[in-house]
Amino acid sequence: MQNIPHVPVLYREVIEAFSSIDEGIIIDCTMGYAGHSSMILEANPNIKLIAIDQDQTAIDFSTKRLEPFKDRVEIKKGRFSVVIKEILEENDASQIKGVLADIGVSSLQLDQKSRGFSYESDNLDMRMDKDAPLSADNVVNEYSSSELERVLLEYGELRNYKKIAQEILNNRPFSSAKVLSDTLKPHMPRGKKIHPATLLMQAIRIEVNDELGELKTLLQNIKDASLPNARVAIISFHSLEDRIVKKVFSEWSKNCICPPQAMRCECGNNHSQGKVLTKKPLMAQDEELKENVRSRSAKMRIFQMRKQ
Ligand SMILES: C[S@@+](CC[C@H](N)C(=O)[O-])C[C@H]1O[C@@H](n2cnc3c(N)ncnc32)[C@H](O)[C@@H]1O
Repeated sequence: MQNIPHVPVLYREVIEAFSSIDEGIIIDCTMGYAGHSSMILEANPNIKLIAIDQDQTAIDFSTKRLEPFKDRVEIKKGRFSVVIKEILEENDASQIKGVLADIGVSSLQLDQKSRGFSYESDNLDMRMDKDAPLSADNVVNEYSSSELERVLLEYGELRNYKKIAQEILNNRPFSSAKVLSDTLKPHMPRGKKIHPATLLMQAIRIEVNDELGELKTLLQNIKDASLPNARVAIISFHSLEDRIVKKVFSEWSKNCICPPQAMRCECGNNHSQGKVLTKKPLMAQDEELKENVRSRSAKMRIFQMRKQ
């Protein structure tokens, strides 16, 4: 077996989440290095897995890794917001029993400096799909002042977003993430247990890969397909994503969808898609935290779609 470049987070919880599924299809929207995919295939011997990733390096690695599972696996390259729709059109909704998304970047994407995700990278890229049209270079060196401010505020939640945007404008062009983060370090928030440039890098990365838009569209497509009795598990790594998942799952569970100002219910009070199985998100336990430091910010929420 090749060296595995990514340790899957919350793997015990993921296996448990899908353990009751004994036939049909499970979709892994973020195959990465196939850690979760291979564990699910092993733990659920009668299911078929359809796995998606937009990163060709991950696809190449995982195609080999999943070879032993032969025709129980189908791998698709592309953005999950788009590919999931195709999968849902190609397959009978009643066959889809589970959907997993382990949102965000893989360890390999972060660790390979040439991908540009790290604040030590000597380029400005950050594209999960190397053929995608927008890179960190475009964002940092070409965005207008107001576009930069939007990215820094909405995706980095940086209080001094105006100042940072101005510093970017004053000092560009930047040739690498390292020069960018070194230049802006003095303006980044202090006192958190993270590198000062983390929120800056996070903001640019979310913009480049439209990460929040991808998550929202994925969830909308799952809801529109109304998959009977399917289990949906989403792992997120920062509060912007977790807030979206929490809000959407809560909306899915509501019977009444009348506007809050309505005096009485007029919607029929029968709109619930199912129930939230995790009142609080599942997080890594001590044992996993010791094994895998990246698991510390992972949160998983699970939704059980109704039988119909
Ligand atoms: C955290 S890693 C997943 C790791 C995987 N669960 C494992 O066990 O190896 C996230 C993966 O999802 C992919 N990804 C993230 N957003 C995506 C999107 N919108 N569409 C397709 N793939 C995406 C990334 O390229 C990356 O390989």
